[in-house]
Amino acid sequence: MDKFVVRGGNPLLGTIKVSGAKNSALPCMAAAILTEDEVILENIPQVRDIETERKLLTSMGAEVELGYGRAQHRTHIKCAILSDPVAKYEIVKTMRASSLVLGPLIARTGIARVAMPGGCAIGGRPIDLHIKGLEAMGATIVYDHGYLEARTDRLKGAHIVFDKITVTGTEDLLMAATLAEGESLFENCAREPEVTDLAALLTAMGAKIEGAGTGTIRVQGVSKLHGARHRINPDRIEAGTFLIAGAITGGDLNVDCCEPKHLGALISKLEQCGVKIDVGTDHVRVRSGGELKASDITTEEYPGFPTDMQAQYMALATQAEGTSTVTENIFENRFMHVQELIRMGANITISGRTATVRGKTPLQSAAVMCSDLRASASLVLAALVADGETILDRVYHLDRGYEHFEEKLRGVGAQIRRMGDVFGKK
Ligand code: EPZ
Repeated sequence: MDKFVVRGGNPLLGTIKVSGAKNSALPCMAAAILTEDEVILENIPQVRDIETERKLLTSMGAEVELGYGRAQHRTHIKCAILSDPVAKYEIVKTMRASSLVLGPLIARTGIARVAMPGGCAIGGRPIDLHIKGLEAMGATIVYDHGYLEARTDRLKGAHIVFDKITVTGTEDLLMAATLAEGESLFENCAREPEVTDLAALLTAMGAKIEGAGTGTIRVQGVSKLHGARHRINPDRIEAGTFLIAGAITGGDLNVDCCEPKHLGALISKLEQCGVKIDVGTDHVRVRSGGELKASDITTEEYPGFPTDMQAQYMALATQAEGTSTVTENIFENRFMHVQELIRMGANITISGRTATVRGKTPLQSAAVMCSDLRASASLVLAALVADGETILDRVYHLDRGYEHFEEKLRGVGAQIRRMGDVFGKK
C-alpha cells in the first residue's frame, strides 16, 4: 500500500490548479444511463472513484471512454444498450456513490438491481430516503441477498418532502424524475453546487427542471432524453483543502481554476481566523495574516460550512491561538482524524458531536494512518507544519478524491513524496 512521506516546515508559494469535482462527475456519469445517445463530460478529475464509476457503467453494458491527455480530462459515455442493469457488490462495496445509478437505471429500463451499499468509516450512510422516494414514484422494491431490486412499468411523478437533506438522494430522485410520467415536486432538497451541476447536464439532455440549487425542485417528466456535452464544475472541496494548506503553512498561495462563489462559508471562516484572502473571478489567493486566531465551526448543509472541510479545518485549528470547537452535524463518525492529530501533538477532546481544539500546539512528525478521504487530507495538512518527516499510510483513501495531490503540493514547495510498498508494485 502506498505511503506519503512529508517533511514539514515549508510555506506554500505560487499557483495551484483545482481539478473537476468528483462529487459532480459521479452523478453526471450516472446520468448518461438516462439516454441511448452519447454524453460527453469535460473537466473529469483523474481520481480512483471515477475509475470505479467507469468500471460500474461498463459492467452494465455501457461504452465508456476516459481520457486524461494534457488538454483534456474527458469521458465519452454511451449507454445504447444496458445488457446487465446490475450494480454488483464487488464494485459497490468500494464506492457507496454507486447507489447513484439506482434512479437512472429504473427510470431508463424499469428494473435495477443494486447491491446495498455498506456503511463506511464516517457513518452508516443509509439510502432509505432514496428508496422511499422511488417507492413514492411507483417502484416496487424487494431485498434479495444483499441486493435491492427495483421494478416499475414507468415511474410516475410524485410530491416528495425529504425527511433529511441528502445530496445523492436529491440527485438520484432528480434523475429518476426526468423520465417519470407527469410532474414531480421535491421539497427539502440539497442545495449543493453538485446538484446544480447535475441539473445543468440533465437540462442540456432535454430534461425540464426548475429550482435546482434551492430547497424546492420541480421536474416535468419527458419520454426521452438525448445526448449532451457538459463541463464539470471545479472541485470546491479540493480548492478549500488548498486554501487551508496555504493558511496553515503561512504561505502565499493562489488557488486557481476554482469557483469562489462555492467557497463562501470557508472563506468567511478563514478571514475570522485572521487569514488574508483575495477573491478573484476564478481564483482565490490566501496569505498569512500573522498568528492564526481560534474560531468555532459547525458543519451544515450547503451553503453552510461543509462537512467535507471539517477535518481539514481541524488541522488548521491546532495551529490557532485559543480554543476552537468543531461540531459535526452531518455524519455520526467523522472524527477519525482526531486520534491521529493527537498522536502528532494536537490537544483535542471530543464530547458527542463536538471536538474542542486547544491551540496553538507544535506538531511532531509521526507514522499516521489514513482512514477516509478527508481525514487523509487533514493529516497531510498537519504534516506540512509538523517538525520532521511524517509517514502517512493507506493513502489510497486520498487517491479516491484528489488528483495528483502530491505533485500539485510539490509544485508550490511542499516536501512530499509517494513511497510504494517495498515489495509492492509501483
Ligand atoms: C454526499 O454524500 C457526498 N458524496 C459526501 O462527500 C458529502 O460528505 C455528503 O454528500 C454531505 O455533503 C457524494 O456526493 C458522492 P447525504 P451523501 O446523503 O449524498 C443521511 C466526500 O468526502 N441520510 O447528503 O451520501 C446520511 O446518513 C464524500 O467526497 C439518510 O439518513 O450524503 C447523513 O447523515 C463523503 N438517509 C446525511 O443524511 C438517506 O437515504 C447526509 O447524507 C441518505 C442520507
